[in-house]
Formats: sequence, structure tokens, C-alpha cells
Amino acid sequence: MKVAVFSTKPYDRHFLDAANAGNTHHLVYFDARLSAETAPLAADAEAVCAFVNDVLDRAVLTTLADNGVRLIALRSAGFNNVDLAAASDLGLAVARVPAYSPRAVAEHTLALMLCLNRKIHRAYNRVREGNFALDGLLGFDLHGKTVGVVGTGKIGETVATILRGFDVRLLAHDPYPNPAVSALGARYVSREELFQNSDIVTLHCPLTPDTRHLVDAALLAKAKPGLMLINTSRGAVIDTRAVIRGLKDGTLGSLALDVYEEEADLFFEDLSDTVIRDDVFARLLTFPNVLITGHQAFFTREALGQIAETTLANIDAFAATGQAVHVVSSEKVVGRTAA
Ligand code: NAI
Repeated sequence: MKVAVFSTKPYDRHFLDAANAGNTHHLVYFDARLSAETAPLAADAEAVCAFVNDVLDRAVLTTLADNGVRLIALRSAGFNNVDLAAASDLGLAVARVPAYSPRAVAEHTLALMLCLNRKIHRAYNRVREGNFALDGLLGFDLHGKTVGVVGTGKIGETVATILRGFDVRLLAHDPYPNPAVSALGARYVSREELFQNSDIVTLHCPLTPDTRHLVDAALLAKAKPGLMLINTSRGAVIDTRAVIRGLKDGTLGSLALDVYEEEADLFFEDLSDTVIRDDVFARLLTFPNVLITGHQAFFTREALGQIAETTLANIDAFAATGQAVHVVSSEKVVGRTAA
């Protein structure tokens, strides 16, 4: 099968080539993101392989379908960037990688939490400059604190499991409570109660109409003063402007992000020689109590290997039977999805 693979970096090609054993499929790699401008590059391909910041709206999907594409194989778990209704109307199958090392994202979440609390990002720079003063580096013991987990699917459950080792109290919020998370001692509460009572909140829900700007000014106003907020899910789950106001007036104590609402224009590229035009993002970079990574939570050898293998398994199955293994359908948007 000819597959047009968008948004590829050398590391993607390495793992996809390894998974495409015996060159069963003809993978054509493009650096470019998938968009209305680049969609025609997929002419002659039967499948398109896309990543998180590729645009798969109705216009792009129509161009792809008109050019003979029949399968969209996502190299991600999230599928908020795909117009599923349009795909269905156009007869396009959509597949994804439902679980690729939830540990990769969960462990990165803990890395952000610990780094932000103990100011490792600031200490690293200070020590390199011969500044061994401790002022401004004061953290707190995680032991005995309350951590709220929003979204207790595969990643949220793994985060909760790791956090048990720190002897924290766990609160959880999810429309579909996970018995394994309750078994860890977590108490399921409303969104408001979770924010009111947590010292740290970590977000692990998908981006859906219901979770867009889930963390907004109204919710932050109810949050425990000094809250630490961690987001490794999708950028638009938080209202970034409201969060900046919270950081400025001190209601929000600190923030760590691996994802950002407008990340498509920034992340995965080396922009160190250019001027960042996004003033909201630039403002975030000025806070000493904000830590940002550029959507790297998934970025482990194990996860990339798994992504490539599941993607190829989806393509293999579709080529053989006309049906991918991990099909995305709209009813899976809310509700835990089995691997
Ligand atoms: P999952 O499908 O196993 O779990 C998601 C959970 O969120 C489910 O239990 C679901 O019921 C819950 N949920 C849905 N609506 C909710 C709401 N309104 N409030 C609270 N919970 C809600 O998904 P998984 O694998 O745990 O991934 C979670 C998200 O993490 C993905 O959707 C993706 O956006 C993000 N992600 C980020 C990565 C990164 O590199 N930063 C990598 C992989 C995933």
C-alpha cells in the first residue's frame, strides 16, 4: 500500500522503517505538516499517516478522499484534530494508536511535577553560573499533599499508581470512574471539589467539546490558593489567558505544560533563530514558576517503537481486510478506550 506520511522527523522515519519489515508498504515521507496546501502531496496514496498537529478538517479530508485516500492512520492516541463526521461522510477509515507506553507520558508528568516543585530548571542554570544560593528554590514535600487527577484512563491511572509511592492523597475526576484507580485509594469527586482540595492537579483527559477550556477563570477562582497545575493532555483543555491571569494574581502557584493551545505554530521545530510572534506563549515564558516542554511526554524509545508498530499493524490490517485494528469512532471520544 502506498502511504503518504506527514510531519515526519528523522526519528519517525527510523522507527517506521524498522516496523515496515520487508518493505511491505511504500512509505513516502514528507517533512511538511498536513494542511489544505500540502494535502495534494498525498495524490496516488491509499493511506495517509498523520500526527498531532496535522490538520484533518473537512476540506483536507475531501481533498484526500478525492485523490483516492481510504485510510487515515494516526500516529497518536488523541484524535481531536480529525473531523470524524466528515471522515465518515467521505467513507474514510480513521485509525489511531490507542496505547503506546502510557508510562512515557506518566513518567514525564512526574518529571514536570518534581522539577517544578524543587525548581530544578532554575537550579540547573544557577549552578552552571557558580550561583549556589538557595533563595527562591524552596519546594514542599509531596508526602501528605493532595493530588487531583482529571481523566483516569490509561495515563491517569499510571500517574496515580506512581504517585502512590509518594504517599500523597489522591482525588480523581472522570465521567467513567476506573476501579483500578479507586483501588489505589483515590476518591472520585466533582471537578470543583477536586480543584478546591488539591495542592496539585494533573490533566489526563482527551480534548473534547466538554473538556475544551475545562480549566477556566471560574474553576481557577475555586481552586486551592497556590495550586500547581500540570497539563500533558492537550493544550486547549486549559484557557491559557485565564491561567496567565491566575499566575499574575498569585491564585495559581505554578504551572507545567507539555502542550499548548496554539502549539501547532511552534512545537517540533527549531525556532531559536526567529522571533516568537505568539504573545500569550511569550508571556508564559517570562514566569519563573512556569515550566514548558514542547510536546515531548510521549518521546521515549519504547513509545516510538510502539507507535510505529501499531501504525503499521493498522495499515497491514486495512490492506488485508479493509478494516484497521484500532478504528476511531465518535462514540469513543468520551469513555475509556481499551488498548
Ligand atoms: P484514555 O482514553 O485511556 O483516558 C482518557 C480518560 O479521560 C477516560 O477515562 C475518559 O473517561 C476521561 N474523560 C473524558 N472526558 C472527561 C472529562 N470531561 N473530565 C474528566 N475525564 C474525562 O486516554 P489516555 O491514553 O490516558 O490519554 C489521555 C490523553 O493524553 C489523550 O487523549 C491525549 O490527548 C493525551 N496524550 C498526550 C501525549 C503527550 O505527548 N503529551 C501523548 C499521549 C496522549
